[in-house]
Amino acid sequence: MKAAWYERQGPASEVIRYGEQPSQPLGEQDVRLRLAFSGLNPSDLKRRMGFNGQPHAFPLIIPNSDGSGTVLEVGAKVKDFRLGDRVWVFNAQWKRPFGTNAEEIVLPSHLVRHLPENVSLAYGACVGIPALTAHRALFADGSIEGKVILVHGGAGSVGNCAIQLARWAGATVVSTVSSDEKAEAASKAGADQVINYKREDVSEKILSSTDGQGVDRIVEVAFGENLPITLKVLKPHGVISCYASDRQPTPALPFYPFMMKNLTLRWVFMYELLPLDLRAALSDINLWLSGKSPDTATPPPMTKPAIVYEHIDRIFSLTQTGEAHQYLGSGIATGNVLIDVQ
Ligand SMILES: NC(=O)c1ccc[n+]([C@@H]2O[C@H](COP(=O)([O-])OP(=O)(O)OC[C@H]3O[C@@H](n4cnc5c(N)ncnc54)[C@H](OP(=O)(O)O)[C@@H]3O)[C@@H](O)[C@H]2O)c1
Repeated sequence: MKAAWYERQGPASEVIRYGEQPSQPLGEQDVRLRLAFSGLNPSDLKRRMGFNGQPHAFPLIIPNSDGSGTVLEVGAKVKDFRLGDRVWVFNAQWKRPFGTNAEEIVLPSHLVRHLPENVSLAYGACVGIPALTAHRALFADGSIEGKVILVHGGAGSVGNCAIQLARWAGATVVSTVSSDEKAEAASKAGADQVINYKREDVSEKILSSTDGQGVDRIVEVAFGENLPITLKVLKPHGVISCYASDRQPTPALPFYPFMMKNLTLRWVFMYELLPLDLRAALSDINLWLSGKSPDTATPPPMTKPAIVYEHIDRIFSLTQTGEAHQYLGSGIATGNVLIDVQ
């Protein structure tokens, strides 16, 4: 099969190679897929660069954990999949050497999910890391129906999914962005209020639109940088769910403001969800993708048309894998970056 890979950590231009790799053997619990798209995420780049001391864990790594495709072959004990099924996958290159940046992949069937007909194969490759992260950040502390959620970075891969999932679950969403183009992406995802954090006073805007009440939960991409905003706009007993703090990895935490408001600081690391939480997330994500209401006794009214907003910035070819990694790493993408591996 054709694939792109690396055999040591380093910059994409130096370490990513393209060529032939052998197909992997199929176990009885496995599914073999003909991949269509490979979804790139910052963690794929961070792993290649050894970010935060991550080791080069395997001699040869085919990168990327997210992807989509169709089923080519099923193992003897696999019951849920048939040849030709359209699927999306997650955690393909988490603690495993061979990810989705190839024509084929063999995965344990629990990492493979059916892709609803109304969702494109391209967007199927954008779901794994972004939607699982967004789901955990939104729902780890209970229902968000009727609540006000602040999603920072609403044009980011995770942020955009978080807006869509929050609206799907009956919340009101305020989102921050840094440009008009990004504001449009956040609005298309369903944000009720979009604030340009470079030009506007985020705290003032939120407090004035919520009658001085603030927000119930925050989905946070820049924990350290946004702490002053958090402390102004998060309601007492509110939750801040943090999944990144790249520019300030060791922020100073003011103890008393957190304590006096009974705030909860929720850490989110999507790769290591407990089985129960993962099951709940996968079930909700499937309902959202299919345009169905949340599976609760009284589902909240759908407040916007049940159409997934496919937030894709650019699609590269398999031979351009190195360029795709560089493009995502440059920070200029507005939306998901994919590799067409068909
Ligand atoms: N913990 C986990 O399980 C987990 C899971 C997925 C991703 N992550 C991490 O989360 C980060 C984002 O991932 P992603 O895939 O969503 O990346 P992305 O698509 O590049 O999106 C990040 C977004 O955040 C915005 N942003 C940056 N600083 C901001 C700030 N101070 N206020 C508001 N928005 C800000 C960026 O736009 P502007 O810079 O233009 O504002 C961008 O739109 C990465 O570091 C990734 O490794 C962690």
